[in-house]
Amino acid sequence: MSNLYDTVYQESINDPEKFWGQVAEDCLWYKKWDKVLDDSNKPLYRWFTGGELNTCYNALDYHVDERGRGDHIAIIYDSPVTNTIKKFTYAETRDIVARFAGVLAAQGVVKGDRVLIYMPMIPEAAFAMLACARIGAVHSVVFGGFAAKELATRIEDAKPRVIVSASCGIEGQRIIKYKPLLDEAIEFSSVKPEKCIVYQRPQETASMIKGRDLDWAEETAAATPAKCVPVAATDPLYILYTSGTTGQPKGVVRDNGGHLVALKWSMKAIYDIDENDVWWAASDVGWVVGHSYIVYAPLFKGCTTILFEGKPVGTPDAGVFWRVISEHKVKCMFTAPTAYRAIKREDPNAELMKGYDLSDFKILFLAGERSDPDTIQWSEKHLNVPVIDHWWQTETGWAIAANCMGLHHFPVKYGSPTKAAPGWDVKVLNAYNEVVPSGEIGALSVKLPLPPGTLPTLWQNDARYIESYLEEYPGYYKTADAGIIDADGYIYVMSRTDDIINVAGHRLSTGAMEEVLADHPEVAECAVLGVEDKLKGQIPVGFLVLNAGVQRDNSEIIKEVIQMVRDRIGPVAAFKMATVVKRLPKTRSGKILRGTIQKIADNKECKVPATIDDPTTLDEIELALEGIGLAKARKQ
Ligand code: COA
Ligand code: AMP
Repeated sequence: MSNLYDTVYQESINDPEKFWGQVAEDCLWYKKWDKVLDDSNKPLYRWFTGGELNTCYNALDYHVDERGRGDHIAIIYDSPVTNTIKKFTYAETRDIVARFAGVLAAQGVVKGDRVLIYMPMIPEAAFAMLACARIGAVHSVVFGGFAAKELATRIEDAKPRVIVSASCGIEGQRIIKYKPLLDEAIEFSSVKPEKCIVYQRPQETASMIKGRDLDWAEETAAATPAKCVPVAATDPLYILYTSGTTGQPKGVVRDNGGHLVALKWSMKAIYDIDENDVWWAASDVGWVVGHSYIVYAPLFKGCTTILFEGKPVGTPDAGVFWRVISEHKVKCMFTAPTAYRAIKREDPNAELMKGYDLSDFKILFLAGERSDPDTIQWSEKHLNVPVIDHWWQTETGWAIAANCMGLHHFPVKYGSPTKAAPGWDVKVLNAYNEVVPSGEIGALSVKLPLPPGTLPTLWQNDARYIESYLEEYPGYYKTADAGIIDADGYIYVMSRTDDIINVAGHRLSTGAMEEVLADHPEVAECAVLGVEDKLKGQIPVGFLVLNAGVQRDNSEIIKEVIQMVRDRIGPVAAFKMATVVKRLPKTRSGKILRGTIQKIADNKECKVPATIDDPTTLDEIELALEGIGLAKARKQ
């Protein structure tokens, strides 16, 4: 029997131009597009070529000036770490953003210039993003948990004219000073910004470098508000760096037009949110979820979005999510399964939920990593609402697969993020680029063109974009996830096919960690693997082979490499476990048998590979894993 999802899905696949062209009518354009889908430069596609718009206008001014909703609350800043709740109406947000856009303009920032934003979860981070959009500047937000070196890599690549930062972030009880990290990153980088604009928080006053650093509050007070600048639909709105298979992160580009169209539409179709609803994405502005669903999509929709500066546990306790949901009458929330695992661990019977009125709460959405059935069932039981897993990536900007709650609520199958979202022609392919029968595992891939709101390319690197995503399966986008589609069209995402691991919903490259370990003067060879973890989903574990003749205590070397990863990649890597082995298991041609080590570490059955050079190396791995308290091997 047909339902709204089926109808919409078929329309979106059979005639994408007609479908997205109609969806785009819901947005404000200074000039309508010449072509909905421009395929003149395949395999690079562009959406809404010829169209002109402004993203900030659609997020703010439109609601204030054209819909009389200036008094509606746009952003609720809820910060248990500073005991603050602050509400900003659409009109207030527009005025603050226009002023800050004026600050940027006064520093010479013009359309196309990059502005790097390195900020904690404070409303000023969202204001800075929107201010860039207002004047056509391209923002690049960097997550606070990265080390100065990672920040420097992003400065080198994006070449920002201005950097916007804050004096500190707050991690639970700890003050994380941002400014020294920023100063260090600028020193490492060969590219220097002209100015840094620093928001001084009361918890920490950053020291300023004369001539380069400007105070957010002073500059804003003196600024002339800037107007929205029309940009091309195909102009970049932002660059968001994400882990690639090397230490060099990939600069995912998002355009203005396709992004607006797809994201605004997704709020109702996927999340069932209307303009009078309160929506909460508990993530960070440094991640794609923060870009798409803390800032842009809810504001395009005209609803209320919560910007939460806290953790699921410890700020002050595992009841904080229930407090926020009840206090602000949240209808739907979106977070990573890890957050719920953390709550479940601290408060297994959800005692802290008692006393909170959660009657406005309707749906919990989870993404960012595999949702384990235990966590889904625990959440369903205690919240008594649908718990919806959905699958997407930094690159895709919005969900590839979901139970689209505004279209049709399909029965949940645990372990599956349900079906391909409208616009996404998802196939499972074998190594010969052939679609495999349903139920068989293969490479989850998306038939080109990707829908609007996805990545048109990597920042100034079409070649890397094509090589990374489009070359292996001609005619398709490679998600780098392996999985299956069952006979009912439900998608199952099983594992990454590259070296990316997911630690507490944070995407990390084990290859990048290996590059750091290999730099230790006493490490001859190494491997880093993502090992299953009850709380964080996966955690990285390093295996080190030391140079012949090294006499020092292994534990000292391990401490040093752990510190190196923290210093170079950042605390977010959560690299805290490493072990020394004599040799790594390899094939006869010298390839490290990562899959086999992984299975042993995860306590899964594994066969000794026929291609192994020396089977006794596996015994060494078992012993080393036991030594660090990881599961015993089950090799056959
Ligand atoms: N700025 C500075 N440091 C940060 C940071 C930030 N924005 N975010 C994390 N870190 C640090 C943490 O303080 C921690 O440092 P430590 O090693 O000194 O303790 C380290 O990075 C690892 O952080 P994390 O993996 O988040 O672990 P945690 O133990 O601090 O918290 C959870 C565990 C489960 C509570 C937390 O990971 C969480 O809330 N996860 C939800 C995931 C999420 O929102 N993902 C976004 C995608 S939807
Ligand atoms: P990120 O770019 O940080 O959003 O990470 C994207 C990766 O996270 C995907 O390629 C998947 O490997 C994983 N992922 C995201 N959502 C899900 C999900 N719902 N189920 C399984 N894996 C997921």
